[in-house]
Amino acid sequence: MTDSTLITSFQSFLQENWTKSNFERLTAVQEKTIPLVLDGQDVIAESPTGTGKTLAYLLPLLQSLDQNSIAIQAVILASSHELVMQIHSEIQQWSSGSLIKSAAFIGGANIKKQIEKLKKKPHVVVATPGRLNELIKMKKVKMHQVKTIVLDEADQLLVPEHQDTVKTIIQSSLAERQVLLFSATLNKDLEMTAKDWMNNPTVIRVEEEAALPEVNHIYFVCDNRDKIELLRKIGRMDNVKGIAFMEDIGNLNVFAQKLEFKHLPVGLLHSNTKKKERVDAINGFRNGKYNLLLATDVAARGLDIKGITHVIHLDVPKDTKQYIHRSGRTGRLGSESGTVISIVSYPEEAKLKKLASKLNIELQRKVFIKGEIRDYR
Ligand code: CDP
Ligand code: MG
Repeated sequence: MTDSTLITSFQSFLQENWTKSNFERLTAVQEKTIPLVLDGQDVIAESPTGTGKTLAYLLPLLQSLDQNSIAIQAVILASSHELVMQIHSEIQQWSSGSLIKSAAFIGGANIKKQIEKLKKKPHVVVATPGRLNELIKMKKVKMHQVKTIVLDEADQLLVPEHQDTVKTIIQSSLAERQVLLFSATLNKDLEMTAKDWMNNPTVIRVEEEAALPEVNHIYFVCDNRDKIELLRKIGRMDNVKGIAFMEDIGNLNVFAQKLEFKHLPVGLLHSNTKKKERVDAINGFRNGKYNLLLATDVAARGLDIKGITHVIHLDVPKDTKQYIHRSGRTGRLGSESGTVISIVSYPEEAKLKKLASKLNIELQRKVFIKGEIRDYR
């Protein structure tokens, strides 16, 4: 099936929403995955960050729901509050003009209010695994009519801490359910384990997406204590919308405080910030109140924020996967370009170079002169 015949085969509300989106075409992962999902198959799909994996499962899912039923028919699991909310808002956008209802459930939110939402009989539920599992145990969410379960950022959901919860959720649905796994990084090991509880899945691997913009990878070397000043300079450049990652929450808090002290307000997002502060940080960053969002790797997965110009690594990612997901917040489909900046200390430089060579990335060292990024020589 070609692109356009796939789209014209959709129900009219989806076709209308497609027209509204102004998208030119389906992406590679969408073209390959949609027919399989419509056919009811289990799918494991790996495709780079920002290549449209969300719609690769959402479009066929919304197409197949029985809008007249009051049962939960699809469950989408995601690894962070922010990602759950983002997927939920995509569903709302793409189901407009239909009777489809969806509900989002995240940990830390008032469970009574969440139970109220279930009374509205959503067709689709998007949730973090822990909270959904609670609702299943309380018998508030019934899984017996769920036909499709999606694991977005599947490898992240199947890390040892979450694996049992995710499996419990899957196993609480009927054996005929369809399971769909998506990520930019799905290795063979994961494929093997997943196959134990999937039904003969088809594996799709997309290497490259023609429409993705080019991304520059650059780095600065400085003393540890000077990292913050460099970050401040980046945050002060014209038209910057940058997300800066660091693993250590304590240090991240210190960075945020120091930047605020220097009159550069930033959004701060990590697992120890309160729910309301998380919402404020992500919304403030999305709508341009903050030029910089300081985050731990909770924000490294799946977030699709328009116009992120820079991703900044304030520490060296521990592996290629971490570099890929953090960096993948910029240079997404539909944007023009992206720059990934690593700020490393002298001892960290070698580690960064090793990572870049594993990833086959060309890294250029830069310096900051008079508010501008210049070549190092
Ligand atoms: O999940 P993944 O990282 O692969 O990407 P995504 O979060 O689905 O983001 C894809 C971006 O491309 C979104 O901003 C979409 O609105 C846009 N897009 C798409 O998904 N599909 C197209 N055919 C065209 C654009
Ligand atoms: Mg995604």
